[in-house]
Amino acid sequence: MPQGLSSTREIPETGSIPKHIAIIMDGNGRWAKNRYMPRIAGHRQGVETVRGVIKSCMERNISYLTLFAFSSENWRRPVDEVTSLMQLFLGALEQEITKLHENGIRFKVIGDLSKFDPKIIEFIQIGEQLTAKNTRLTFTIAANYGGRWDIMQAMRKMMAQSTKLPLNLDEENLVQYLSLSYAPEPDLFIRTGGECRISNFLLWQLAYTELYFTNTLWPDFDEHELELAIQSYQKRERRFGRTSEQLQRAISAKG
Ligand code: IPE
Ligand code: IPE
Ligand code: MG
Repeated sequence: MPQGLSSTREIPETGSIPKHIAIIMDGNGRWAKNRYMPRIAGHRQGVETVRGVIKSCMERNISYLTLFAFSSENWRRPVDEVTSLMQLFLGALEQEITKLHENGIRFKVIGDLSKFDPKIIEFIQIGEQLTAKNTRLTFTIAANYGGRWDIMQAMRKMMAQSTKLPLNLDEENLVQYLSLSYAPEPDLFIRTGGECRISNFLLWQLAYTELYFTNTLWPDFDEHELELAIQSYQKRERRFGRTSEQLQRAISAKG
């Protein structure tokens, strides 16, 4: 399926290895609290987990990894936590961009960047430009991201760029303006930290994604935990609206 097309319009090709994994990295605060440490210590440890998960995804030939780092609702947190998170983000950008590039990783950020410190915006731009032609893994950070924001900004762009009336109001037209239009829809969604909710992450793109929830807190999420999620994915039957019998027939026809 060409990128940007929609699973509700065309049945995507699927395989035993997910092409795109999207993760809500949750549980940093609780991890720190369990150790009588400040919440930011959990976030710091969470950055270490990100490094490990990128490495594991590359070893497994996964093409797209999308991580939810800061939601449009996370501004509601105490000011000092938000400030620390921003410092951590800036520090990680400064340290990691060259390493990502050396590893052949394409780096992208999705979300409303207008609220960020100009220094953060600058590093994001440098990182995206430097790594734009890399093909090994597309690593996306969702920052000040919200699924509703994404659909709204896509609508606004679609309306603004439509020259002829009546407007072509179909899915194919809209999806090219969604912020993840360069990626296929996620095959596997993982949320750590025990909550079973989407928290305004990729509302549009998760339409037919396989969902996996684990109680493991994000700082404890390691290669073995990723393997468990992939194993769970491999047991799913992705029907996209069809019956199980139809799928079995298609498989035996292929030989
Ligand atoms: C996820 O961990 C990281 C962000 C939302 C930035 P939390 O900070 O939500 O951790 P818990 O859910 O309080 O344990
Ligand atoms: C979701 O986690 C956002 C990120 C991981 C960035 P939250 O911890 O903010 O989600 P809720 O508030 O428990 O739904
Ligand atoms: Mg949380």
